[in-house]
Amino acid sequence: MALKYIDRRGTDSAKWDALDSQFGDPDLLAMWVADMDFKEAPCITEALKKYIDTAAFGYYSPGKGYFDAFIEWEKKYHGYDVKREWICFAPGIVPAFNWVLLWATKPDDAVILLTPVYYPMINAAKWNDRTLIQCDLVRNGMDYTIDFEKFEKDIAENDVKLFIMSSPHNPIGRVWTPEELRRLMEICRKHNVLVISDEIHQDFVFGDNKHYPTATLGDYDDFCITMTAASKTFNLAGLQNSMVIIPNEELRERYLEYQRRIHTYEGNAFGFVAVEAAYKGGRAWLEEIKAQIYSNFEYVRDTFAKEIPDVTVADLQGTYLLWMNFEKYFKTQEEVKTFMQDKCGIAFDYGEWFGGDNFVPFVRMNLATTHELVDQAVQSIIREIKKL
Ligand SMILES: Cc1ncc(COP(=O)(O)O)c(C=O)c1O
Repeated sequence: MALKYIDRRGTDSAKWDALDSQFGDPDLLAMWVADMDFKEAPCITEALKKYIDTAAFGYYSPGKGYFDAFIEWEKKYHGYDVKREWICFAPGIVPAFNWVLLWATKPDDAVILLTPVYYPMINAAKWNDRTLIQCDLVRNGMDYTIDFEKFEKDIAENDVKLFIMSSPHNPIGRVWTPEELRRLMEICRKHNVLVISDEIHQDFVFGDNKHYPTATLGDYDDFCITMTAASKTFNLAGLQNSMVIIPNEELRERYLEYQRRIHTYEGNAFGFVAVEAAYKGGRAWLEEIKAQIYSNFEYVRDTFAKEIPDVTVADLQGTYLLWMNFEKYFKTQEEVKTFMQDKCGIAFDYGEWFGGDNFVPFVRMNLATTHELVDQAVQSIIREIKKL
């Protein structure tokens, strides 16, 4: 099976066709938004075609096949024994963590994040008038670790109610170890902090790293909600279908009650059909895209090390997002923007988005594309850095 590249310009793709509104330049090379420039696995296309040919597009109710496919995937690849009744629906993980934040906390309550982190988590706290507590990860070169003492102190001093975690961690590519996850969870237990473990990147883990669902590492069911999806794994984000796993009955009832109030518990038929097909038949395709991503990563890492060693990158333990450090060259957001957009012609996610001033000299590159496009980005960065 060969991965099929799609030139997505002109397909109303957010990554390629919203460049003008987001960056003010429609002609940039799009290396931002975390989706892929590849057609979905053939088993998904077939299932969708079959549905189009045989079904009427009335209201949809997901059947046993959908839940079984997900349950089997979690068990087989992640060792998580999920019960059918724990699985709740969400049209996306971003709406889901916003909903939980809304019913589990009150205005001004404190929400803690390990920064830099996926910026919709920051916005969830800010836009809903919660107090955002940023506990910066500790950086040593481009290796990141957690300052557990600071994490606990921040929680205790600010009476934190909710911790939203990215595992694996977007944007720095860390796959948290069981020891790290357990320490975080024990601190949260001690201080009565509800945890959302966002595991949407669970299927992108490389080398000797292994993803452990947080919920499997201890008796955390009373204060841990896991969120995951096939959307990142199989490039289905536009179909809006995600899983929220809530083993605790009381928490689950609060989630469902909130959904009833806003009447958003039914998803799009195509999302369910695609996700079921993906979990049932998409593994070989996933292995191919993972190989593509990792070889893109090695190429960027090795080429920068040889040509422009002062630009450093984080190790890609997990995710398909590469965190790159330009601190030897740039101090301000304006300098980064001028260089990336005006000189190199590339749209990256800017470091500042992931937590503010501390992350200005960083950018995040999306590696889920062709070698040719990655090379184009790498060569323009090298060319322009050498001119500085
Ligand atoms: C950590 C993380 N959570 C959630 C999402 C997106 O979630 P959704 O599209 O399901 O709202 C992303 C997308 O990049 C992500 O990186």
